[in-house]
Amino acid sequence: MGVAHCERVQVIRSVAAMQRLARRWQRQGERIGFVPTMGYLHQGHLSLVRRARAAVGPRGKVVVSIYVNPTQFGPGEDFARYPRDLQRDLALCRGEGVDVVFAPSDADMYPGRAKGCFTTFVVEETLSRVMEGRSRPGHFRGVTTVVAKLFNIVQPDVAVFGAKDWQQAVIVRRMVANLNFPVRILVSPTVREPDGLAMSSRNKYLKGDLRQQATVLWRAIQGVRRHLLEKGRPAPVRELRALVRGVVATAPQARLDYVEFFEPETLQPLGMVGRGAHMALAVFVGGTRLIDNARL
Ligand code: PAF
Repeated sequence: MGVAHCERVQVIRSVAAMQRLARRWQRQGERIGFVPTMGYLHQGHLSLVRRARAAVGPRGKVVVSIYVNPTQFGPGEDFARYPRDLQRDLALCRGEGVDVVFAPSDADMYPGRAKGCFTTFVVEETLSRVMEGRSRPGHFRGVTTVVAKLFNIVQPDVAVFGAKDWQQAVIVRRMVANLNFPVRILVSPTVREPDGLAMSSRNKYLKGDLRQQATVLWRAIQGVRRHLLEKGRPAPVRELRALVRGVVATAPQARLDYVEFFEPETLQPLGMVGRGAHMALAVFVGGTRLIDNARL
């Protein structure tokens, strides 16, 4: 029960069925590569799938989860309208030779939630407080909780996350280290459109002129890189913030939420920014909130 076949990709809807299959694979000595997603897949996701396949080899198993996790969305955020298209996602997964798509229901992932009986969460307490955590209170509690649950269900040897969500990847690594999950976390480079816009399922919201304005995030990153290169030495954060504000102001419907400069593994904020530092920014473009980041 809870298992459907779709040519070569197997679709599993139930937590129990996924867990049973994962246990069987483990008994048989199969390596499991896992790519957690919220669906509406794009080339960025597919690059993670390829990385998972490369990590487990042709005889290993690759699982992609497709689940729009309600607990990582705040009130007034886009949970209800987040793009969903399972049939399209399955076709893409089939094309990449994914073995299983795990697409559970809310009722199965969060039993008792509607009655107030889902009361256990996983909380990372330090790295989650800055940047996305400050702008989206409760977001990372939802992410760490669902990722911990998915790890318990899929039992992967390797899990692949996108560098596009840099802070998320750092937090998941910390959670895995702190809570002894037996899984290796790989972080794969951001995949970009030809004009530099980082691929994201939310890019679908960018209608008309907003799509072009959304390149402001990449232009800000490139502007900072150029500035540091021309300067030839580290620059103070306030100088770089001013530069970023200037670039964002060139897009009439863009509004900077934050820009931060930090040490990439600890997210510690920097006063002076030079080579090897990391920057991340969040910008509202019209009503759509976009994020991006890069090593400088
Ligand atoms: O990055 C995402 O798509 C989500 O945050 C994740 C990791 C699938 C958890 O819901």
